[in-house]
Amino acid sequence: MFVLRQAIAEDGKYAQMICDEMRNSAKIRGTGIAERTPEYIRNKMRQGKAVIAFSEEGLWAGFCYIEDWTGEFVANSGLIVNPIFRKNGLARQIKQAVFNLSLQQYPEAKIFGLTTGLAVMKINSELGYQPVTYSELTQDEGFWSGCKSCVNYNILISKNRKNCLCTAMLYQPKNKSQEE
Ligand SMILES: CC(C)(COP(=O)(O)OP(=O)(O)OC[C@H]1O[C@@H](n2cnc3c(N)ncnc32)[C@H](O)[C@@H]1OP(=O)(O)O)[C@@H](O)C(=O)NCCC(=O)NCCS
Repeated sequence: MFVLRQAIAEDGKYAQMICDEMRNSAKIRGTGIAERTPEYIRNKMRQGKAVIAFSEEGLWAGFCYIEDWTGEFVANSGLIVNPIFRKNGLARQIKQAVFNLSLQQYPEAKIFGLTTGLAVMKINSELGYQPVTYSELTQDEGFWSGCKSCVNYNILISKNRKNCLCTAMLYQPKNKSQEE
C-alpha cells in the first residue's frame, strides 16, 4: 500500500512540505517540537540518513531521519505521516525502516528517542526500546539545543535537563546490553 525507501538528494523537493507538516501537527497537538529547517532535512536526504514514504499514487506520505551524536548514540527523529494517510500503520512501517537503516549505518550505537506521543511509545516498545531517565541519553549539547524551539524548554531547564514532559526511550544493541 505504501512505498518506503531510503531518501536521496532528489527528494529535497519535499523538504518544505515535510517541515510545514511537522510544524502544523505540533501546533494542533499543542506539544513541543525540535524544529528543523528545510535545509536541515535536505542535508539528511543527501546523506542517505532518512526514510521517505509515498502512496501508491506517488503522493508524499511520511518521513523520518537519523541524527548521530558523537558515535555512541543515534536518534530516529522527525517522524511525520501525512494526515491523509494516518492510522494505516504507516508510522510503524517507517519507524521499522529507519530503525533498520540505523542498525546498518551504526551497528554499535544506542538508539534513543524523546516523545510525548502514544503511537511512538507503542512502536518503540515493539522495536525493543525501553523507557529510561534522561541520564541514559547522550549529553551532547547539539542534541539538547534541538529542544530550544520546544514550547516546554523552560521546564527542561528548570529541571536541570534531568527530566521534562517527553518520555525518553532507548534501544541498546544486543552485545551492549549483554555486556552491562
Ligand atoms: C504520530 C504519527 C506519526 C502516527 O502515524 P500513523 O501512521 O497514524 O501511526 P500508525 O497507523 O502506524 O499507528 C501505530 C500505532 O499507534 C497508534 N496511534 C496512531 N496515532 C495515534 C494517536 N494519535 N494517539 C494514540 N495512538 C495512536 C495506532 O493505533 C497504532 O497502534 P495499534 O496498532 O495498537 O492500534 C502521526 O499521527 C503524525 O505524523 N503525527 C504528527 C507528528 C508526530 O506526532 N510525530 C511524533 C513525534 S515524537
